[in-house]
Amino acid sequence: MCGIIGYFGDKDPKNVILDGLKKLEYRGYDSAGVCILDDGKFSRFRAEGKLSNLEEKVKDKQFNGHIGIGHTRWATHGVPSERNAHPHKVSGVSIVHNGIIENYQSIKKELLANGAKIESETDSELIAHLLSIALEDTKDLETAVEQVLPKLKGAFSIVALWEEEPNKMVAFKDGPPLVLGVGEKEILVASDITAIVSHTKDVVFLEDKEVVIVNGTDYKILDPRGNEIHKKIEHIDWNPEAAEKQGYDTYMLKEIFEQPRAVAQALEPHIDIENQVIQLQGALGPDVSAEEINKRLAQVERIFVVACGTSYYAGMVAEYMIEKMTRLPVEIEFASEFRYREPVLPPKSLVIVISQSGETADTLASLRMAKEQGAEIMSICNVRSSSIDREADYHLYMRAEAEIGVASTKALTCTLAVINVLSATLAKIKGRLARDEEVALIQKLQQIPAEMEKVLVHDKFFSEAANSLKRYKGFLYIGRGLSFPVALEGALKLKELAYLHAEGYAAGEMKHGPIALIDQDMAIVVIAPKDDVYEKTISNLEEVRARGGQVIAIGSGEDEVLKDLSLHYLSIPEGDWRTNPILALVPLQLMSYHVASSLGLDVDQPRNLAKSVTVE
Ligand code: M6R
Repeated sequence: MCGIIGYFGDKDPKNVILDGLKKLEYRGYDSAGVCILDDGKFSRFRAEGKLSNLEEKVKDKQFNGHIGIGHTRWATHGVPSERNAHPHKVSGVSIVHNGIIENYQSIKKELLANGAKIESETDSELIAHLLSIALEDTKDLETAVEQVLPKLKGAFSIVALWEEEPNKMVAFKDGPPLVLGVGEKEILVASDITAIVSHTKDVVFLEDKEVVIVNGTDYKILDPRGNEIHKKIEHIDWNPEAAEKQGYDTYMLKEIFEQPRAVAQALEPHIDIENQVIQLQGALGPDVSAEEINKRLAQVERIFVVACGTSYYAGMVAEYMIEKMTRLPVEIEFASEFRYREPVLPPKSLVIVISQSGETADTLASLRMAKEQGAEIMSICNVRSSSIDREADYHLYMRAEAEIGVASTKALTCTLAVINVLSATLAKIKGRLARDEEVALIQKLQQIPAEMEKVLVHDKFFSEAANSLKRYKGFLYIGRGLSFPVALEGALKLKELAYLHAEGYAAGEMKHGPIALIDQDMAIVVIAPKDDVYEKTISNLEEVRARGGQVIAIGSGEDEVLKDLSLHYLSIPEGDWRTNPILALVPLQLMSYHVASSLGLDVDQPRNLAKSVTVE
């Protein structure tokens, strides 16, 4: 959580840093701050709340230096306030920090015993104190960082400046991501490439305990033992415009509407159109053929899927789909549980980790734990070269491009597209997908982008209905089979965006308790596409209707039965059971978006949330 950026270069650092913070604001928006060289001193500005408050503060300020750092905060230690905002400054040292210092209490005790004046409630300020003390002897920021780094326990990425060496910036990490951008006359460090890509596409991903020392436009990287290393500069193919709103009011709406193209992009590498074949292309790197991948996957006897939040619901779809299509046993788990409950991973286990950001702390820790136990790891990530992507054995990509809205939308539908090709590949390996079924599935998958376009017309309905929908006291989302995870995701979207009480339930479970909640003021959102559990869902809906619940239904085509049972009926094209979830999610995203907007809420940055959860 938190976004950090550092800049040295020939552009105006204020503009580069504020622009970078705008791209990083999805990581936290409790406060923001900058520290930029001006007349040989680092001049600091901080503001509580959104970045716009900081922008207002510095709008007339000119800085004549060429170096600076910036921060956007998701509060962990200490309330959101200007006093707790970064950068933290002690004597001539300024730092920005993303993460948590776990041993902050013992550090604080020692600092206080030695007479330090601690101004904030944060763990981060302590880093500036430690550096400042080290600098009294070392008189050199690089050496000071080398002395302080071993004293810090936890998960952190940090950029530090010192007034006595005004052209120098030292950045280091242990846990949360840090990327170095190498431009022609400029160097950047940031929490992720969205803040860098409009300046340079040449980047270096830093590993844990590596230190980068930027000195003017030169830089050097030290390994954890302090030896200089020469890391490969990677050229990334991100389109800088992907991180812009492109005329939409919000990132979220733009990302919802981008889904047809994004899903097509996710499927593209894995469908050989000419030969009508599904194959996992590139999962073991560019030089390993699909046949070799299949040979290795053929060894798998057991699958675990591990993820958090929306990615967990994608994992539930994977569990249902892979198990049904391959008869391999599959288990889905919350990463935060999996990592601590000491699960038994039998030999020949494959652990699939799903993460848009590729940095979610619990998911990453689960990956490492599973790897230690000898399991093979397959990642499905959106952010290439993220920690999870780098540490996995097999690499699949959502290919959704930058997802900035904190609420995940296109990353999920792209993941479901990837899960379709993964399930089909495993089914073929197990001899459970006949050739004609494969061709039929390819046709269905290829229709998804056009079908999504059709579903997006529900935008108009929800923009008009939002005012009446927001009056319900609660929302129950129900579905069976693959529509159950869709229901859970629908409820999560409404909770996180509109702050309304919503619950997702397996439709068949209603009568075991939740049905007691139903009255005229309760909205029931049912996802009932035509599939093998459709009739069962309709029976459950009848039970709900009999108790006065107001039904919003999502069904296939012109479903008169469902229409009769509902107050509002939203149609998705008649699909295959495997592609229905991708289509059914779209109206649910639109519903949450418009209900939240009509309540005047910030849909891109819902309260208390952050996009990339790098703390447990
Ligand atoms: O980056 P990840 O996919 O690992 O993130 C997992 C969750 O934090 C994320 O899906 C979260 O639930 C979103 N806010 C949902 O919209």
